[in-house]
Amino acid sequence: MKDADCVAFLQWALPRLGLRWAGYRQVRRRACKRMARRMRELGIADAAGYRARLEADPAEWRALAALCPIPISRFYRDREVFDGLGAEVLPALARRAQRLECWSAGCASGEEPYTLAVQWRLQLAARFPGVAFRVLGTDIDARLLERARAGCYGAGSLEALPAAWREQAFEQRGRLRCLRAPLRREVEFARQDLLAALPEREFDLVLCRNLAFTYFDAAGARRALERIASRLRPGGALVIGLHENLPAPAAGFEPWPGCRAVFRRSPVSTSS
Ligand SMILES: C[S@@+](CC[C@H](N)C(=O)[O-])C[C@H]1O[C@@H](n2cnc3c(N)ncnc32)[C@H](O)[C@@H]1O
Repeated sequence: MKDADCVAFLQWALPRLGLRWAGYRQVRRRACKRMARRMRELGIADAAGYRARLEADPAEWRALAALCPIPISRFYRDREVFDGLGAEVLPALARRAQRLECWSAGCASGEEPYTLAVQWRLQLAARFPGVAFRVLGTDIDARLLERARAGCYGAGSLEALPAAWREQAFEQRGRLRCLRAPLRREVEFARQDLLAALPEREFDLVLCRNLAFTYFDAAGARRALERIASRLRPGGALVIGLHENLPAPAAGFEPWPGCRAVFRRSPVSTSS
C-alpha cells in the first residue's frame, strides 16, 4: 500500500475508532503493514476496497481495532524519567507507605513494569527494608502479556538499562536475556482494556506512557485520565510519556517538582 493511500485511510478510520491520527503519524509504517496484511487475508487489493468493506461490514471494525495498538517499548525507556523516579518519586512514596503498589497501564511485553521492579530491588529496596513493593502490568493484547510473563528479551530491549542492573537482574538463555525468577515474581500481569476495565486495588504510582495521551482521541484521553485518577491514591504519582501532555482540564494533578512527565495527585481527593 502506498504511504499516501495508507495515510488517507488512517485519517479516515482512526477517528472512527476513538484514535488520533497525529499519534500514529510517526508509527504509521507499522500500522500500514498490519492493514496491508489484513487486506491480503481478505483478498482486498487497495485501501479504497478496504474502506468499502468496513462501510459494508460493521464486524470488520473489530478486526481493524485489534490491529491498531502499537506495542513498541524497551527497558528504562526515557532514562531521565526513571532517573527522576529513582531519585525523587519512589523514595517520597516509600517514606509514607508500608507497601508500594504500582501499575503500568499499557505495559506491552513487560519492559516498563519490570524496569520498575529492577529499579526498586537494585537501587532502593535496601534503603526501605520494611516496604513491600508490587507492580501490576496491564495491556489489551494477550499475546504481549504471554511474552511479558516469560520475561525474556533480546539485547536491544535492554540497552538503556544501567549495565550493572542488566548483569544482576538477567540471566543469559541462548540469544535471550531472561529476568531472574525473584524479580519476575514481583510483577503480575492482567489483560485489560483501559477504557473498559480497571484493577480492583488502588495505587501509589501509575505509569500510563505512550498510550492514552498519544493514541486516544481527546474524549478517550480524558476518560482514561479520570479512570486512572479513580485508582490513584491522593498524593500518589502519575507518569506519562516524555512527549505527552495531560488532557485539560487535569484537575487534581500538579507537576512533581523537578521531575519531567510526572504528576502528583492532589493530597486531598478532588473526585466526587
Ligand atoms: C506504545 S506501547 C507503550 C508501552 C510502554 N507503556 C512504554 O511506554 O514503553 C502501548 C501499549 O498499549 C497497549 N494498548 C493499546 N490500547 C490499549 C487499551 N485500550 N488498553 C490497554 N492497553 C492498550 C498496546 O497493546 C501497547 O502494548
